[in-house]
Amino acid sequence: MLVLGLQGSPRKKGNSVYLLNRFLEECKDRGARTEVIHMDGLDIQPCRELVVCEKKGFCPLKDEMESHIYGLIRRADVVVLASPVFFYNVSAQAKVLIDRCQMFWGRRYKMKLADPDAGFRQGVLLAVGASGGKRLFEGVELTAHYFFDAVSARFAQSLTYKKVEAAGAVADVPGVDDDIRQAAGRVMDAVQNKPCLVFVSKNDACRSQMAAAYAKMAVKGSIRVLSAGMDPARDIHPAALCFLADQGIDIKYRQPRFLDTLIKEEFENSLPFQVVCMEPDLLPIPGVNTLFWDLPETQDASNIAVAGNQIRTRVDSLVSDLQCRNQSG
Ligand SMILES: Cc1cc2nc3c(=O)[nH]c(=O)nc-3n(C[C@H](O)[C@H](O)[C@H](O)COP(=O)(O)O)c2cc1C
Repeated sequence: MLVLGLQGSPRKKGNSVYLLNRFLEECKDRGARTEVIHMDGLDIQPCRELVVCEKKGFCPLKDEMESHIYGLIRRADVVVLASPVFFYNVSAQAKVLIDRCQMFWGRRYKMKLADPDAGFRQGVLLAVGASGGKRLFEGVELTAHYFFDAVSARFAQSLTYKKVEAAGAVADVPGVDDDIRQAAGRVMDAVQNKPCLVFVSKNDACRSQMAAAYAKMAVKGSIRVLSAGMDPARDIHPAALCFLADQGIDIKYRQPRFLDTLIKEEFENSLPFQVVCMEPDLLPIPGVNTLFWDLPETQDASNIAVAGNQIRTRVDSLVSDLQCRNQSG
C-alpha cells in the first residue's frame, strides 16, 4: 500500500508540511508505506503545450516527471495533494506538477486508455489559506478535482483550513489532529480492508502484468490486485504494453516488482487470499492458496498475443469464481 504525498509549499516547516506529515503518519500507523515529493526545488519544467502527450501518450520534456514521478503516481494507492492557497489556487510549485499530468489526461481522454487502478486509487486534498473568505478553497478544490481525475484517483477527502498564516500555526487549530486521524482512517479503510490477489511470474514483465491488469479491470476495485516477479525485469515488455493498449488498457509507467519486496511491503500483517503463479516450478508464498497456470512463454514477442488471450479467458473465469465464493462466503 503506497500513500504518495505531493507537498506544494516552499516552507519546510509550514502548514502544508504539518498537515501532510500528520496524515502520512496516520497512514503509516495503519500499515501503509509513504513517500513524499516536496515539489519546491524539483527539476520539473512547466508544460510547453507541445500536445505530444495527447497524440502519442508521452511527454517529450525530460526531467523528474518522466524519470520518477509518473511512475510513482501510477504505483500510488492514495495520492495526497497538500498545498497553501496562493492567489486562490494551489502554489505554483504544485501547479507545475499538475499541469505535467496532462500526459495522463491525454492518455485517458484523447487516446482512450484506461488505467486499471482507476477503480481503486484515492485522492486527498489538504489545503490551508490565510484569509477567511467563503470562496477561499473553490479554486484549489476545482484544480484538485480535475487533477485527481487525470491521474485516475477518486477524490475521496478534502481537509481545508482558513485563517492560518504563520508557518506551522495550523497545528494549533482546534480539532486538526482529530480531523486528520479520521480522514486518514476513512481513506485507509477504503483501500486496505480488501482481499488481495497476487499474480507471480519470473520477470513480472509480461504475463503477470497482463493478468493483473485484466483482473483489476474486472474487479473494479472490489479486490486488491498485485503482480510481482521472482527475478523482475527492469521494464514491462513493450509488446505487452502495446497488446493491452490495443484493448484500451494502460500499463505504461508501471514497473516490475520483486516478490520478496512485495511480501515485505504489503503483507506484514496479512496474507493474500489467492496467488496465481505463471510457472509450474515457483512456490511463491508458503501457506497461501496458489493456482498454477501453464501459459506460453513470452520471450518471443509474437507469443504475447497468444498468452494474453489465454490469460484474459482465465482471469475472467477466476474472477467470476472468486466473486461467487465471496457472495456465498
Ligand atoms: C504568494 C502568496 C499568495 C497567497 N495567496 C493567498 C490567497 O489568495 N488567499 C489566502 O487566504 N492566503 C494566501 N496566502 C497565504 C498562505 O496561503 C498562508 O500563509 C498559508 O498558511 C501558507 O501555508 P504554508 O505554510 O503551507 O506555506 C498567500 C501567500 C503567498 C506567499
